[in-house]
Amino acid sequence: MNNKNNDLGFSTRAIHHGYNPLDNNGALIPPIYLTSTFAFTTAEYGAGCFAGEERGHFYTRISNPTLALLESRMATLENGEAAVAFSSGMGAIAATFWTLLRPGDEIIVNRTLYGCTFALLHHGIGEFGVKVRHVDMSNLAELRDAIGPATRMIYFESPANPNMQLVDITAVAEIAGEHRDVTLVVDNTYCTPYLQRPLDMGADVVVHSATKYLSGHGDITAGIVVASQVLADRIRLQGLKDLTGAVMSPQDAFLLMRGLKTLSLRMERHCSNAQVVAQYLQDHPAVEWVTYPGLPSFPQYELASRQMKLPGGMIAFELKGGLVTGKRFMNALELFSRAVSLGDAESLAQHPASMTHSTYTPEERARHGISEGLVRLSVGLEDIADLLADVTQALDACA
Ligand SMILES: Cc1ncc(COP(=O)(O)O)c(C=O)c1O
Repeated sequence: MNNKNNDLGFSTRAIHHGYNPLDNNGALIPPIYLTSTFAFTTAEYGAGCFAGEERGHFYTRISNPTLALLESRMATLENGEAAVAFSSGMGAIAATFWTLLRPGDEIIVNRTLYGCTFALLHHGIGEFGVKVRHVDMSNLAELRDAIGPATRMIYFESPANPNMQLVDITAVAEIAGEHRDVTLVVDNTYCTPYLQRPLDMGADVVVHSATKYLSGHGDITAGIVVASQVLADRIRLQGLKDLTGAVMSPQDAFLLMRGLKTLSLRMERHCSNAQVVAQYLQDHPAVEWVTYPGLPSFPQYELASRQMKLPGGMIAFELKGGLVTGKRFMNALELFSRAVSLGDAESLAQHPASMTHSTYTPEERARHGISEGLVRLSVGLEDIADLLADVTQALDACA
């Protein structure tokens, strides 16, 4: 298989893209290049690599054959030209911000964001002269009004972590497209390209925490950026090489490629399990509200059906009795682990206000749509009967 096989199906590309065993001593599985540096054929060739005239590998912080194979697979799965691998999702996001934003620029972000992205904006680039402006991106008129001459980037997650609010990617891309200097960046962590491909909808850059569904087994931290070749080269040569140094290790690239092979199967199961758990929670008298894009009661159900192939594996809900009951519920869970992160085979439950979103003050959480009693579930790959039994006994324990 070579890199020209973009007409093959998603799962086929996730398994084969960019690799031919016959080019590698027949090894069915791509080798891991555990090397930090690469020998030059001549001094002139080495100088050419540094001058950007040669595209060969010369130092693993910049590129490595194992990382390059992973990057080519992520690029084809997201329908982008090129990808860059990072040691974490925050590495990918930070490198993108530091590369594309300068003091005096403005970034417009959605009302609700993952806690560390919020912290990076407000305690990182925001303190280095970039103006951060939040808007509710479900209100397109508000977004349109917010864009000014200094706006250089629009950034959001869809669904947003943790409250599941969606953003209409095509509509926002149309607005961003009216401004030549504005780059639209979408965090596609919750969906993965199996459920949603923002570049096809007009986004310029996709970022991922590949720690989550993409790797899928909870054994690495990893990040990915997918973009045009020009943007990816800039993010690699500034954001990765010079500004963050947040390079992925070749072993982690290997594990991530192993995870990608089953991405479509895993996503189907995450989604079907989550649909059943969400419906069960919605029908339960102890539950105050549930947000899950697959429920007809979800406020953006029509958008979810249009934009996402399936509704995903994440659920947000609040119990009657709020935080106190929510903690009782979490402590009663036996099969679900009380743990942050998401997208693993194991089902996970966490409390954003005191965990992943404790980077917000209580006032900020209230302003940014994160209620104190919200419980977040990452529904795993276990048998649905066992998951329902666990949720049932934990809800009973709250009564
Ligand atoms: C939506 C989203 N984006 C980015 C990140 C950051 O990724 P990482 O933990 O791999 O640095 C996370 C982590 O939870 C996330 O949920």
